[in-house]
Parts: sequence; C-alpha cells; structure tokens
Amino acid sequence: MAYDFSGKVALVTGAGSGIGEACALTLAGGGAKVIVSDIDAQGGERVTQAIRDNGGEASFIQTDVSDAQAVEKLVQGTVETYAQLDMAVNNAGIGGESNLIGDYSIEGWHKVIDVNLNSVFYGLHYQIPAMLERGGAIVNIASILGVVGFAQSSAYVTAKHGVVGLTKNAALEYSKQGVRVNVVGPGFIKTPLLDANLDDETQTMLAGMHPIGRMGKAQEVANLVAFLCSDDASFMTGGYYTVDGAYTAQ
Ligand code: NAI
Repeated sequence: MAYDFSGKVALVTGAGSGIGEACALTLAGGGAKVIVSDIDAQGGERVTQAIRDNGGEASFIQTDVSDAQAVEKLVQGTVETYAQLDMAVNNAGIGGESNLIGDYSIEGWHKVIDVNLNSVFYGLHYQIPAMLERGGAIVNIASILGVVGFAQSSAYVTAKHGVVGLTKNAALEYSKQGVRVNVVGPGFIKTPLLDANLDDETQTMLAGMHPIGRMGKAQEVANLVAFLCSDDASFMTGGYYTVDGAYTAQ
C-alpha cells in the first residue's frame, strides 16, 4: 500500500526494530524523509541505512524516549535536519515484568510507565507545537492491552490504557488546528519484543487467542499507521483503531 508522502517529514520512535522499523520503512517508501529514532544505535543505524539503500532519505537520532529533555532535543533535531515535522509515530515501548500486582517491583512499574506512557506525553508535548504551523498527523502505538486487561502485566496494561486516553485528549485539544492524533491497538505481533519476553510455547498459546488463528506481522501494523498518517484519513482523529485479528472482538 503506497501513499504519497513526498515533501513530508516523519519521526518514528523505537524505529530500530519491529513495528517501528516497519513504520519507518513504509513512510519512507511513500517518499517521506524519516527521522529514525531509537535508544539502540545499532538498530537505528541499520534501519536508516536500509531506507537509504532503498533510495529514501533518513537520519538517525539516538533518543531515550523516557527522558523529556532528550525528546525535546529529538524534535528540535528533526526540525533542524529537515526543516519541518509533518508526521510522528510514538512507538517505542517495552514489555516489562510478568508478575502479579503484589509481586510487581516498584522499580519495574516506574520503568514501564516512563518508557510506555510518559514518553508519549513528552512526544506530543514537543511534536504538536512543531506541527501547528503546517498541520500534521500523529499516531501513537498502544496495544489491545490499551482497552482490555492481561494478567501479570499491570504496568503495561496501565500505560497502554493511558496512551489511549492521552490520544483522545490530544485530538480534542488540537484537531481544530490541523493536527490529527490517533492511536493504534495491535494484537500480539511477531517482533523481537515478543521473542525477548516469551518462550515458543507461550507464543503459540498467544497466537491461538486471536480468532484469526495467528499473530500479526509488523507490516500489518505499519499499513494502518501509514493510512492514518495519510490525507486519506483526513476526518480521522481521536480514534482508537485495532489491528488485532479480532482479539478484542471476543
Ligand atoms: P521491539 O522490541 O521489536 O522494538 C521496540 C524498539 O523500541 C526497540 O528498537 C527498542 O530499542 C526501542 N526502545 C525501547 N526502549 C526505548 C527507549 N527508552 N527509548 C527509545 N527507544 C526505545 O518491539 P515492538 O514489538 O516492535 O513494539 C513496538 C511498540 O508496539 C511498543 O510500544 C509495544 O508496546 C507495541 N506493541 C507491540 C506488540 C507486540 O506484540 N509486539 C503488540 C501491541 C503493541
């Protein structure tokens, strides 16, 4: 699915792997200049090079999204590099501990809230003002766990529910000024995040929880993100959109 993003500048966080990588490659494939951002320099540089190898334009800016000042610098760096910001995908995230609430570490709780929720506030806080002059589109990556619970994942579920709420507020506050903000809820997607956190048996069990009978692919999320970034989605803002093989339809 190719959209025409020529003349546009996109910023993707957590773009060095998985869903963020697919989003960065897809937006670049449509002609956007892409700022690839990740805490992991190796992954970020690899994706930046892949975009260039495909004939696209990209630059890497290393950023820890849980650090507000770093996110401010990331947005400044984007505007310094490509003169504007039209699209942002707030995607970086971690899985966190798998523990009951009584056993969940306080430190682990704060880490997941910082990386998965506070980061999205920092992103919006700096991205929206950078878009006000020209308008823009922002897509936040939540999860099916932004609308339903999942035992032993309290911090992740809480952070992702927060991202859904924050997206609605951002849309209420800025849609009239031409900035659309939407949130995507992927089901379980086969990415390095899952491989790092879950053994094969658990992954097979999770795949079976999707009525479609399998996990999703990063590209299937990127297809929705690209649509929401495109002018074809011009009346869509403040929405939560699933790409989950009917997981939340049950
Ligand atoms: P991944 O682990 O493949 O990629 C995440 C990327 O974020 C990595 O490159 C990592 O280095 C980066 N990252 C981690 N902490 C960071 C930080 N503090 N600052 C900047 N970058 C950081 O994971 P995946 O699966 O592609 O996940 C991307 C997003 O999609 C996450 O927000 C995740 O919660 C969400 N998601 C993933 C699902 C899945 O089943 N894989 C399902 C639903 C949502």
